[in-house]
Amino acid sequence: MRIKYTLCFSFLLIVALVIIQRENNIIEKVSDKLNSKQTPQTPLLDSGLFWNALGQNGSSLSQTDLLSYKRTKWWLDKNYNNLSGITLPSVPDGRKHILLLASTRTGSSFVGEFFNQQGENMFYLFEPLWHVERMLTLEGGGTNASASVSAYRDVLRQLFLCDFSLLESFIDPPPQAHITAALFRRASSQSLCNTPVCTPTVKKLFERYHCRIRRCGPLNLTLASESCLQKQQLAIKSVRIQHLETLRPLLEDPRLDVRIIQLVRDPRAVLASRMVAFFRKYRSWKSWAKDGDIPEDDIEVKKLKGNCDNIRMSAEVGLKQPSWLRGRYMLVRYEDIARFPLRKAAEMYQFTGIPFTPKVKQWILRSTQASSDVSGVYSTQKNSTQQVEKWRNSMPFKLVQVVQKVCGPTMSLFGYTFAENSEMLTNKLVSLIEERTYL
Ligand SMILES: *[C@@H]1O[C@H](CO)[C@@H](O)[C@H](O)[C@H]1NC(C)=O
Ligand SMILES: *[C@@H]1O[C@H](CO)[C@@H](O)[C@H](O)[C@H]1NC(C)=O
Ligand SMILES: *[C@@H]1O[C@H](CO)[C@@H](O)[C@H](O)[C@H]1NC(C)=O
Ligand SMILES: *[C@@H]1O[C@H](CO)[C@@H](O)[C@H](O)[C@H]1NC(C)=O
Ligand SMILES: *[C@@H]1O[C@H](CO)[C@@H](O)[C@H](O)[C@H]1NC(C)=O
Repeated sequence: MRIKYTLCFSFLLIVALVIIQRENNIIEKVSDKLNSKQTPQTPLLDSGLFWNALGQNGSSLSQTDLLSYKRTKWWLDKNYNNLSGITLPSVPDGRKHILLLASTRTGSSFVGEFFNQQGENMFYLFEPLWHVERMLTLEGGGTNASASVSAYRDVLRQLFLCDFSLLESFIDPPPQAHITAALFRRASSQSLCNTPVCTPTVKKLFERYHCRIRRCGPLNLTLASESCLQKQQLAIKSVRIQHLETLRPLLEDPRLDVRIIQLVRDPRAVLASRMVAFFRKYRSWKSWAKDGDIPEDDIEVKKLKGNCDNIRMSAEVGLKQPSWLRGRYMLVRYEDIARFPLRKAAEMYQFTGIPFTPKVKQWILRSTQASSDVSGVYSTQKNSTQQVEKWRNSMPFKLVQVVQKVCGPTMSLFGYTFAENSEMLTNKLVSLIEERTYL
């Protein structure tokens, strides 16, 4: 018996040793490759001259200096976790930061895909602020507005700098050694599911937000950050920023080159869509649709008005083009994207100064011509022309009137025509969208 155990144990030990040896070989090979590629120069770490020479914002750097700076930073990040005491100067390295600003049910997942599909050089994040909102939600629902404004802004700033540490503090359960299986909708970011961020699965583990294009281990945020630093373009989509001017510090941050695309949609269509997608929260609207009068001072009506006002006020700030936002703000209507997806996508790309790749083009063509049975409430694959007008048949005129009343100024600003009666509402020969160009 004992001999059997000993044999068995020895066998296991040998297997384990073989595995460890192989892993080591792989790691060595990989680091050899990295070393030969990335560290041709010795960083001037000790003299400190390098940092002084860079000045405050690195704007006086030549191209060679920039390269060497990047290598140095890479080397430092790789070899030292403790960088406190060294403030890294900013580098005008041509990196672009795009923020897609929207509210729920405005087609932002679909438009976010325009960037997610861009290709190798894009790092796209889908609703990272979900974690922040969740953590800051008060017991009675709702969030602490003043606390969330600065938290949203600070997390965005860090993410645009490829730094996940602040976001980590909002993820629940907290990441262990920068590893998490709980990043909201990870699968919606190709950058988090492609190599090198997709690591091999080690053991079977339940992950709510796992990658779908391939099997990956839990998300290593250090790896994500490294990958982000290699990319020239970053795009973040968020439906949680309510006031554009709260982002002013980001636009004035010399380390960032932020472009904001605000996506808006007809508030009547948004309400119709929310009544389906968030049916529990929109119970009152449902019951009003069936029967009864709509109390004008109802909290739900007030909430709708508040949403519309916030969107309008942000757009007013943007369209006014204050100096901190000049050339950095673009307003896009969902209806225009749905009707002319390629043209609008091209315009958005031109605005951001990023190449409009064939890959994006292909994706848009594929998705906008998809047959209408590929649905599901979060699906981005819809017959978009059809989709734009659908609400006109599903929404009672009574509700439309309420939206038109409380969201009137917002609708006028964006060129959405009021329906004067239920015939006008359902007659598809009458367009409820004025042609507008905002640029
Ligand atoms: C930083 O850059 C700005 C222009 O972008 C320049 O006016 C300023 O002097 C620079 N500051 C330093 C310390 O180099
Ligand atoms: C990090 O650096 C600071 C300042 O240089 C030093 O006081 C601290 O002990 C360092 N921490 C570690 C873990 O090395
Ligand atoms: C909201 O946050 C601020 C700090 O940002 C805090 O002073 C205040 O007490 C908070 N209010 C509530 C109701 O939690
Ligand atoms: C996460 O990635 C970093 C950077 O590549 C690596 O150093 C670290 O070991 C990884 N963590 C785990 C648990 O694999
Ligand atoms: C999409 O909807 C429009 C309008 O109803 C229709 O004309 C078109 O044929 C549809 N396209 C596809 C691929 O289903």
